[in-house]
Amino acid sequence: MAELKTQYAGLELENPLIVSAGPWSRDTSTISKALESGASAVVTASIVSEPSPTHCPRLFYKEYSLSNIRLYSELTLEDWKKTIGETRNNGGTIIASIMGESPSELAYLAESVESFGANAIEIGAAAPFGEGLEIKCSDPEFVFNYTEAVTTAVKIPVAVKLSATVTNPVACARAAERGGASGISGIDSVRAFAGIDIETATPYLPSLGGLSGSSVRPVSMAIISMISEAVGIPVCGIGGISRFSHAVEYFMLGAQSVQIGSSILTNGYSNIGIILEELTAWLDNHNYRSIQELKGIVSKRISPFQDLRSDPLAAEFKTDCHKSDCMHCRNACTYDAISFTEGKINLNRNMCSGCGMCINVCPEKLISMSWYQKG
Ligand SMILES: Cc1cc2nc3c(=O)[nH]c(=O)nc-3n(C[C@H](O)[C@H](O)[C@H](O)COP(=O)(O)O)c2cc1C
Ligand code: SF4
Ligand code: SF4
Repeated sequence: MAELKTQYAGLELENPLIVSAGPWSRDTSTISKALESGASAVVTASIVSEPSPTHCPRLFYKEYSLSNIRLYSELTLEDWKKTIGETRNNGGTIIASIMGESPSELAYLAESVESFGANAIEIGAAAPFGEGLEIKCSDPEFVFNYTEAVTTAVKIPVAVKLSATVTNPVACARAAERGGASGISGIDSVRAFAGIDIETATPYLPSLGGLSGSSVRPVSMAIISMISEAVGIPVCGIGGISRFSHAVEYFMLGAQSVQIGSSILTNGYSNIGIILEELTAWLDNHNYRSIQELKGIVSKRISPFQDLRSDPLAAEFKTDCHKSDCMHCRNACTYDAISFTEGKINLNRNMCSGCGMCINVCPEKLISMSWYQKG
């Protein structure tokens, strides 16, 4: 059977699935459920010096995307002392997430959670609420300072979680590594607006908030792809993971572990066990002996824009299509290379610019593409 052991935040983990910071890891009961689901570790909801009240409603879910206006943990430091103590006593691996405005505040929180028994710390570098912290956390110097303040204050390992709205993730990840971090994760939810019920002119949520779930996965994969090439410490992918194949994508981009959040709300904690089983079966079926064998194997196939191949590519139909009631390919082709004439779909190869759109929209997968030589 494939080896699932991996590392994140200076910890040796039994498997690469970690539960991320959020309401699904907000207290003893939720953290216990997360650990029982098969996750190798749980990141607590972010612990802050002054917990804020929760707002109602604070979650809105539509079309695989979750919007939230939930701010950090509502528990006090004293509550977390009990929660971390109880969950550690049950054998769980707990990564305490901390958020603060200044290096000294973070150092204080870090010392506190270390004394409560946390195995490691994850510093939340900006959440999508309020701009102050976000602007500070886009400054690599600030990231270095707060990481160093925490790594020098505690003996347990420290990771840094990046936000998608950090303007220079590579510089920030390197700054965290220089500051002594043992891991980088990303991303937090992305600043967004949930939308409007236009019949009543009512916003679905009464404030700007954070977007998570499937729709943020491509955003996160871009950041993971960039930072995993730039740092030598383990990288953990977060964002939109609800199936084993999503985790595999992150591993192929260079992550060594992943965190799962929003999909717990839509699929339950038990989905983590399913992801783990399917991941193991997939690795075995594809003769991968470990997660490490997947690490970054696709990164080398992602080129800088200027190095992209310039040979022409053209679409071709694998077989005739007579579906006059579909037309997705014809609508998708803004180059007018596809037409419906004489009872079937026709392709004018000379007009095809090789954009690749038609193959994505064909529900029957009848179209492929091939390179050809110029001239
Ligand atoms: C309701 C909610 C609350 C969250 N609270 C926290 C938090 O306290 N600390 C933190 O670092 N991230 C928090 N997150 C971000 C998640 O940990 C995760 O980074 C993000 O949702 C993307 O992953 P996902 O698509 O699997 O949810 C929260 C996300 C949601 C949806
Ligand atoms: S690849 Fe683009 S240009 Fe060519 S037929 Fe398809 S949609 Fe049209
Ligand atoms: S999208 Fe596919 S199924 Fe639909 S008309 Fe075009 S070739 Fe036929």
